[in-house]
This record gives sequence, C-alpha cells and structure tokens, in this order.
Amino acid sequence: MDRRTFLGWVGVGTLASSLPLIIIACSNSENNGIKASTQLKQNATAATTDDFHMIGIASELDINGFLLNEDLAGKPVMVFRHPETKELIALNPQCPHQKCNVEIASNKKLLICPCHDSHFTFDGEVVKPPAKEPLDVYKVKQEEYLILVKVS
Ligand code: FES
Repeated sequence: MDRRTFLGWVGVGTLASSLPLIIIACSNSENNGIKASTQLKQNATAATTDDFHMIGIASELDINGFLLNEDLAGKPVMVFRHPETKELIALNPQCPHQKCNVEIASNKKLLICPCHDSHFTFDGEVVKPPAKEPLDVYKVKQEEYLILVKVS
C-alpha cells in the first residue's frame, strides 16, 4: 500500500468514526433551540399575567440600543437604557405635537422629535416646543432576560 492510499483510508476511517458524534451534536443543538423557544414562550405567557407585557429580550435591547413596538397592548412603546445610570426607561415615543416618533439624541442627553425639533427629557417632560404635552411614561422591569412593560 502506498502512502497516498494509506492516508486516504485513514481519512475515511476518521470521518466514519466521528459521524455519530456529529449527528448527536446536531440533534442536541436542535433540542436546545426547541427547549429555549418553549421556555421563552412560557416565560412570556407568565409575564403577561400581571399586566406587564413582553416587549423583547435584554440582549436585543443591548444590541439595538432600544426596543420599539408600535402596538404593545394597544400603545406604541419604546424601551431604552438611561445612557448614564443604565436604568430601564419605557415611554410612548409618539410626539404629542403631530405623532412623529422621538429618537435618542446623538449626545445621549435627551429625546428629539425629528419632525419639528421638540426636545424631551428621559422622563418625558418637554424642554423645547412646539410639543406642549409630555410623553407618556410606563413602568418597565427586567425578569431574567425578558423586558416587560406595563402600559396602563
Ligand atoms: S411632531 Fe414632534 S415636534 Fe412636531
């Protein structure tokens, strides 16, 4: 047997012997995904029982910088972390002036309406018109990896 043939048989043997481990590893990751998905649904269902509604998960919030749901139990809701304290903040992002969604300012010190430049504190208070009314602020909490908002 020459060297090339020998190495070929060794390669086939190695692949054949590791195939069962690869199949088990793949089936376990599928099961873990199903278990995680089921657990997420169970937690979300449990979380909505005390008037708090799941808007997303903490890792999504940290990656995107905010969570936005235009219809969370009938209200538009934005959640973000205070840039300095990292405290969770939930509010209705619709500007009271003409309903544009406010955004976190690039200096991370307030919220700005892109339509007519109203400014708001992170507590929803107006600091620059034309908006005259504050943004509605909601209770928000984190339970494990779920971000939950009470919109009433
Ligand atoms: S819609 Fe926000 S300032 Fe006009």
